[in-house]
Amino acid sequence: MREGYEGTGPGAITPDGCAVELYARLPVGDEPDVVAAAVPAGAHILELGSGVGRVTHALLERGFTVTAVDESADMLSRVHGARTICGPIESLDLGEKFDVVMLASFLVHTGDEEVRRGMLRACARHVARGGCVLVQREGPDYHTEVPRERVDPSGFTVRIASVEPVGEGVNSVRAEYVFPDAVWTQTFRARPLTEEQFESALAEAGLEVDTCLTADGTWVRAVPVV
Ligand SMILES: C[S@@+](CC[C@H](N)C(=O)[O-])C[C@H]1O[C@@H](n2cnc3c(N)ncnc32)[C@H](O)[C@@H]1O
Repeated sequence: MREGYEGTGPGAITPDGCAVELYARLPVGDEPDVVAAAVPAGAHILELGSGVGRVTHALLERGFTVTAVDESADMLSRVHGARTICGPIESLDLGEKFDVVMLASFLVHTGDEEVRRGMLRACARHVARGGCVLVQREGPDYHTEVPRERVDPSGFTVRIASVEPVGEGVNSVRAEYVFPDAVWTQTFRARPLTEEQFESALAEAGLEVDTCLTADGTWVRAVPVV
């Protein structure tokens, strides 16, 4: 487990505190629709931090080809129909280029700036000329509107229970997922990013924002700076 990261609940837990059994249960949201509207039909997508394939499987159903990367073999063992690669995103170097590289699940907010740099460089290293990088980032109130909770229609509650500063612009976030028969928690380190900080992190990796894909600003399409 990484320092500052923790997960509790049934089943295997990844180094960043995610529970495999939880992600196997979570329904997919609008992520595949956002992606499908932003990229060419049938594109080859490099999905970084795919987990069990919650989004991967929906992308495959829409006719995309997906290469799924995750550092957790337990997560990847649940992925079907996609090529899987087990290892850290930040050191990924496949020697291949993809139409689309996807860095979702707020991984760009990872607490460790070196890891974030590595992740964004991995995005830039793997995107084809004319291709794009899709990044999912936090909304502006994610760290301030706390506690907050949402009852999912499928029958569980997700709660951001606390957000505590731990220094140098990083917060420790505790999330709880309450199902009728099981409870999972994840504690992780997240760094809020202003628009300027987000854009300069992309620029450091040779990327720039092309379009904002959602009204709430959480999904962004970036392209290599030419
Ligand atoms: C919050 S889960 C989201 C999984 C999936 N994207 C989804 O939406 O269902 C984050 C995933 O990213 C993986 N992950 C986190 N940091 C990573 C890193 N540095 N390298 C590779 N995988 C990482 C974790 O193992 C976990 O499966």
